[in-house]
Amino acid sequence: MSPGILEATVGSDGPRQKNKATPDTLRVGCIAMVEKDGQARRAEILSIKDTKSGRQFYCNFDNFNKRLDEWVPVKRINFEQDVEWPNPDKDKPKDGKNKQGATAQKKNLSKKIQKRPGKREQSVTSEAATPNHPWSEFVDSQPQSKAPSTPRDLESKAGQTPAAAGDEMDLDEDENTPDIKKEDDGFSREAEIEKLRTGGSMTQNPTELSRIRNISKVQFGKYDLFPWYFSPYPESFTQEDAISVCEFCLSYYADLKSFARHRQKCTLQHPPGNEIYRDDYVSFFEIDGRRQRTWCRNLCLLSKMFLDHKTLYYDVDPFLFYVMTQKTEKGQHLVGYFSKEKECADGYNVACILTMPQYQRKGFGRLLIQFSYELSKIEGKLGSPEKPLSDLGLLSYRQYWSENIIDLLVEYNERDERCTIESISTALAMTTQDVEHTLQALKMQVYHKGEHKVVLPEKMIQAREKARSKQKRYIAPERIQWKPPVFTASSRTWGW
Ligand code: ACO
Ligand code: ZN
Repeated sequence: MSPGILEATVGSDGPRQKNKATPDTLRVGCIAMVEKDGQARRAEILSIKDTKSGRQFYCNFDNFNKRLDEWVPVKRINFEQDVEWPNPDKDKPKDGKNKQGATAQKKNLSKKIQKRPGKREQSVTSEAATPNHPWSEFVDSQPQSKAPSTPRDLESKAGQTPAAAGDEMDLDEDENTPDIKKEDDGFSREAEIEKLRTGGSMTQNPTELSRIRNISKVQFGKYDLFPWYFSPYPESFTQEDAISVCEFCLSYYADLKSFARHRQKCTLQHPPGNEIYRDDYVSFFEIDGRRQRTWCRNLCLLSKMFLDHKTLYYDVDPFLFYVMTQKTEKGQHLVGYFSKEKECADGYNVACILTMPQYQRKGFGRLLIQFSYELSKIEGKLGSPEKPLSDLGLLSYRQYWSENIIDLLVEYNERDERCTIESISTALAMTTQDVEHTLQALKMQVYHKGEHKVVLPEKMIQAREKARSKQKRYIAPERIQWKPPVFTASSRTWGW
């Protein structure tokens, strides 16, 4: 594990003074015993806020993934036990409660954002971050700088966003908003999942505001979503126990009454773009970030709550969004999406990918990934997701790559055909690098009598057959109604 990324142990910076605290004296940087899932655990207090339902403390639990950080009420903190107090020199306040510190942090962040527009930053936990691991170059071994501070123009909107209407051009906003146990196949699944639980895929740089999840709950259609990470919704939203996001236009409300009024008026029932794929299970819509700027920014704000290292909030223009939905009588419900740069010099076919949390681990990620490769096949290009991948991104891609390579090799075998890295790459629209890494990780490449060979162990074929019989859903490529869009260089919008 890279110590730069994973600082799962709280308070590992030397001896600390210990004595009792009260709800009023407990401060940021303290380590207290806090109840989590019925057990008392050491937790560092990262932030404190007064909400309508009382004082809340934001806790980072020892040895838990930071996705599991949470706001806890006073009653879950054990004040009978001594609290470890922050070292005045070493443990600076970490959440910007200190006004001066917060301003300085904001300045730093705005400097950091002056990078290539639309570039997201991603880091990963899991053994993939270990040097020499076959997947190590897919992930970051360095701590990452983080998402921007709360954007100014959003703060000023007092909890409302304009709804994106129909399929009209949505260029309403100013152009100057800031950019803001070992298994046979070589992977130890249990160990990785354990690392996912206990690792931290987000930078643990204590000076960053975005370390703290700012929204507790999101009402989204019939679901309550519990965010994992910071997202720059208006600062006033952080006082709320829950916010509401319209599941169709994705506009956001802190206040239930305004949200109810909005729902009566909102006419959108599907993402504002062209439906380019439909089967009896899902649809895909293609949405241009420039034509539907507000909708796409809202999508980014929403997805940031579940994506750790994304800085694409404002400069959505250079991207296309491929949004997967499921239909009910109410409309087309957002299941997941991926974004793709209109012109990507690095040849990435996916910038960011997300399955909404209520739909995760049901096979939708596979469909999104397959769709991205089907588009690459139509374009006649090889594609790969933007690196570094997140922990869950890496697991999902690795699974997709492995399954598809094994299936293809079985086909080659049945036809008694020879295969090469290049032929696999062309058939699957995967880069040769991704093919090679997958073969290496699966230990399928051998050097025999002066030749590199790909071997497909019988056990692997059987395991794949079993998994395949369970996998019900695939994208039917013949149903995709899509031609690669052409953009004019100046506008990066549709060339017509
Ligand atoms: N634990 C273990 N394995 C997992 C997990 C997990 N939590 N999630 C996915 N996988 C692996 C499994 O092998 C799974 O297959 P299985 O269920 O048959 O075992 C395979 O990935 C595919 O799973 P799906 O159910 O198809 O994937 P899902 O719909 O959950 O979507 C995704 C995967 C998109 C990565 C989702 O976890 C997500 O949105 N995460 C948050 C955002 C994120 O990290 N996105 C990727 C960033 S990298 C980038 O954008 C390029
Ligand atoms: Zn709406």
